[in-house]
Amino acid sequence: MERELEKFILDHSTPENPVLEDLYRQTHLRFVNPNMVCGHLQGRFLEMISKMINPSIILEIGTFTGYSAICLAKGLKSEGRLVTIEPNDELADFTLSYFVKAGVDDKIEQMTGRAQEIIPEMNLIFDLVYIDGDKREYCDYFNLVIDKVKTGGYIIADNVLGGGKAIGKDSSDPQTMGIMEFNAMIKKQKNIECILLPVRDGVMIIRKLF
Ligand SMILES: C[S@@+](CC[C@H](N)C(=O)[O-])C[C@H]1O[C@@H](n2cnc3c(N)ncnc32)[C@H](O)[C@@H]1O
Repeated sequence: MERELEKFILDHSTPENPVLEDLYRQTHLRFVNPNMVCGHLQGRFLEMISKMINPSIILEIGTFTGYSAICLAKGLKSEGRLVTIEPNDELADFTLSYFVKAGVDDKIEQMTGRAQEIIPEMNLIFDLVYIDGDKREYCDYFNLVIDKVKTGGYIIADNVLGGGKAIGKDSSDPQTMGIMEFNAMIKKQKNIECILLPVRDGVMIIRKLF
């Protein structure tokens, strides 16, 4: 997005929460690939969507440093909870410290491991699933969760434009190919409706019909 346009959009959105601002900064100071953190614009978007859905149970695939988990947790019902999965166990203490600072630690359950191993063991039905793990595995994630999403529930998938490369036909890098396969699979899916929004790197909102 052009810098001027991004500035205008952020100027006309509710300012970033100071805890999230600090989390964003610390993520950039301490971790490799800090650009994986979702940031102010997308965080506000996720928070707003979650508040509109007002879910009881959210599943997140790909916690990283917890920015999106905090935003999504803000829309939970008062007794609701968010389960977030992350294979990198070096992030867990840092992430928990920010869940505490944001006042959402009692609503968030951190699970360390790969979604593929954890989700099949889960005996839960989700109102909302946020897919933001390894781009090569998006189809696997969708297939693992679709039967665990309630009818009328939502799946939100991030990065479906693959940095712009997913709209072409000749990409051969595994991440872009994973996203392209996911987009093609969703297009053929009969039991959902969906909208791809050009927020940041593309956000697909999927609603399960039956
Ligand atoms: C883009 S980052 C997540 C960013 C985070 N949701 C946010 O917005 O701040 C992707 C994360 O997915 C994690 N990941 C990779 N493979 C995974 C898997 N199989 N299951 C769950 N998470 C995975 C990575 O370790 C990484 O931390």
